[in-house]
Amino acid sequence: MNPSTPSARTEQPEKLLPAPPERKRLPAPDVVTFNKVTKTFGVGPQAKLALHEVSFTVEDLPNIGEMVTIVGPSGCGKSTLLRLIAGLKPHFPPTSGEVQVFGKPVQDPGPDRGLVDQKYSLLPHLNVIQNVAFGLKLRGVGRSERDDHAQEWVKKVGLEGSEKKFPSELSGGMQQRVAIAATLILQPRILLMDEPFGALDPGIRFRMQELLLQLWSEKEETVFLVTHSVEEAVYLGDRVFLMAPNPGRLVEILKVPRPAEPPEESRRKPWFISFCQTLLRRLEEESPAPPGVKL
Ligand SMILES: Nc1ncnc2c1ncn2[C@@H]1O[C@H](COP(=O)(O)OP(=O)(O)O)[C@@H](O)[C@H]1O
Ligand SMILES: [Mg+2]
Repeated sequence: MNPSTPSARTEQPEKLLPAPPERKRLPAPDVVTFNKVTKTFGVGPQAKLALHEVSFTVEDLPNIGEMVTIVGPSGCGKSTLLRLIAGLKPHFPPTSGEVQVFGKPVQDPGPDRGLVDQKYSLLPHLNVIQNVAFGLKLRGVGRSERDDHAQEWVKKVGLEGSEKKFPSELSGGMQQRVAIAATLILQPRILLMDEPFGALDPGIRFRMQELLLQLWSEKEETVFLVTHSVEEAVYLGDRVFLMAPNPGRLVEILKVPRPAEPPEESRRKPWFISFCQTLLRRLEEESPAPPGVKL
């Protein structure tokens, strides 16, 4: 019986029906929250204020992972910010303020967060496959399963044929791709990438950006990506965090107004070019002039 027909309403007046039990859905905790986070290295006259009162929230949006890109001049605290989320010393813990991940204060590093470090540190005595599979090994995954899985990732980052090579036999860009594969294979819920594509040739860089976008749309994880490229920040980011130095701080959060077009088309669109120009201008305003240069 259709309950919206008049007869149905007469037979069972709505007001007499017992009220349905109220479904209380707990709101998902925010993915990352910084609350007035300050980090000072050292004490006394040598003390360096690396981050000053940084606050922001990345919400857990249903079925959407957010890609946050971070730009700012050298020394403005970009790596410090990522390593605070990762819970890695000596950047962690903050000097004051609180870093929360999924609603809980960060205490340690954890498998929910994966960092591709600026200095893509590979294990020198392990070959490419072993480096990529290393995290799975630590998680107790059996040899053949982890090697098969690692092989897939080596292919995804375009390193087939180099499986048995050691880090010392690889170019910087190849080492960086091994480091990226070694982190992505673990599928962290929060992916932290510190200038991950910096050492790559433009063609490979483009391919890695596409790979990241593809993986990210499949997995809906949250990504924080530090880059020196304004174009990369706008191309990949849902929001761009603009940071400034002395002291390191978050000065602006720019939301990228992404229309419903495939990402590869955006790069040529007028909105994209004008957004990049605005960001570049803001970045110049926040960058200190080198000593002796008067602007
Ligand atoms: N381990 C450390 N000890 C002392 N100072 C540090 C350390 N790491 C970073 N700093 C200082 O903190 C500031 C921010 O550094 P960092 O986060 O690496 O900046 P960015 O990644 O934006 O270049 C810089 O002035 C840097 O010299
Ligand atoms: Mg850095």
